[in-house]
Amino acid sequence: MSRIDDAINIDDLRRMAKRRLPKIMFDFIEGGVEDEVGLRTNANAFRDLRLVPRYYVDTSKREQRATLFGRTYASPFGIAPTGMAGAFRRDAELYLAQAAADADVPYLMSGASNASMEQGAKLAGKNLWYQIYGARNRDVAADLVKRAIDCGLTTIAVTSDVPVASNRERNRRNGFVRPLRMTLPTILEAMLHPAWVINYYRTGGLPMLGNWQPYAAKDATPDQVADLFASQTPDSSQTWRDLETIRNAWPGKLLLKGVMHPEDARLATTMGVDGLIVSNHGGRQLDMMPSPLDMLPMIRAAVGPDVPLLLDSGVRRGSDIVAALCMGADFVLTGRATLYGATAGGLPGVKKAVSILQREIDLVLGQIGAVNLDALGPRYLLDTVRAEEERRNSGAMTARR
Ligand SMILES: Cc1cc2nc3c(=O)[nH]c(=O)nc-3n(C[C@H](O)[C@H](O)[C@H](O)COP(=O)(O)O)c2cc1C
Repeated sequence: MSRIDDAINIDDLRRMAKRRLPKIMFDFIEGGVEDEVGLRTNANAFRDLRLVPRYYVDTSKREQRATLFGRTYASPFGIAPTGMAGAFRRDAELYLAQAAADADVPYLMSGASNASMEQGAKLAGKNLWYQIYGARNRDVAADLVKRAIDCGLTTIAVTSDVPVASNRERNRRNGFVRPLRMTLPTILEAMLHPAWVINYYRTGGLPMLGNWQPYAAKDATPDQVADLFASQTPDSSQTWRDLETIRNAWPGKLLLKGVMHPEDARLATTMGVDGLIVSNHGGRQLDMMPSPLDMLPMIRAAVGPDVPLLLDSGVRRGSDIVAALCMGADFVLTGRATLYGATAGGLPGVKKAVSILQREIDLVLGQIGAVNLDALGPRYLLDTVRAEEERRNSGAMTARR
């Protein structure tokens, strides 16, 4: 399978991306950390959920529009930040931005993206959000916020779940480290993916980290800018006070990404964060983390009904998105799912990923008897149905006695 049009589901796009990329690159997208328990935890959390349909509901007119921060999007999902996407497909972030704008969903551009937020904003306008990694030099973080304001962005996210670099063993084994360690087997394997190799070198090799270029010397090479980024992040000395500084400097909507503990969720909301992205970074940080789906009910209980909760990690199907909404999320983000699309086929690839998820959401809404997202809730979850029936049955038994 190779034509984007032939992709039926996200896994098809994943296979196409895998075929196109050398292993050293594909593993960077695909990998988790250490024993990759986190990847399985995320996948299983969705696989273990069961939706119980209701029938004879008129679902002939279904719709999946979702409102977040007063803005209505075409679907209840957006695109999560994935750094260095331009290395997998040149200009990938521009394709992600364009596809998001065309589909009217948000795109949260990575703080480690190759395209700059200024380029993204030009393409995606209000559909562009920006993700910030705190930097050791606090002036850089302050300037990134200022640039987001100058770009007219409405929403930024601060990522909290990278206090230290994570132990990505696939990358270390493959030599995907700085500086890149290309062994003979890695080079020979890469030769099996000539289209990517030719394109990568024809377009200049390692792409620039667009958002960081202004903080490097005027004529800095992409490698030197990447070195600067690596010297500035992760910043293990970050505390809630740094978040407070960003909150005070940023007038728009502020999301905190990577919240997993209910107490952190409470703290974040008391300091004026507008919404939380419940996420374990797609299983790429701490291998023993629970899935965001498992933490969601506790976090919802901690912050109450009014704080928007977004969720990512492990979403590969429209049904995953519907299930997350039933569990209490207001919105969902896709990391690898849309990145597979960008890698496999550029703009048409991202559009395909988005349309696959939209179609699946639509069909699941129809299947379970929900005309729109307002109809979703725990009442579709097997656990809730079971508990409700047990309660009824025990009530009936008591009445009979
Ligand atoms: C290749 C790759 C790069 C990523 N880069 C970033 C990043 O720069 N900033 C960030 O906050 N999260 C980053 N993430 C995490 C995603 O934003 C998101 O949390 C995760 O991919 C969700 O899991 P999923 O891929 O299973 O959907 C990255 C994920 C991947 C796969």
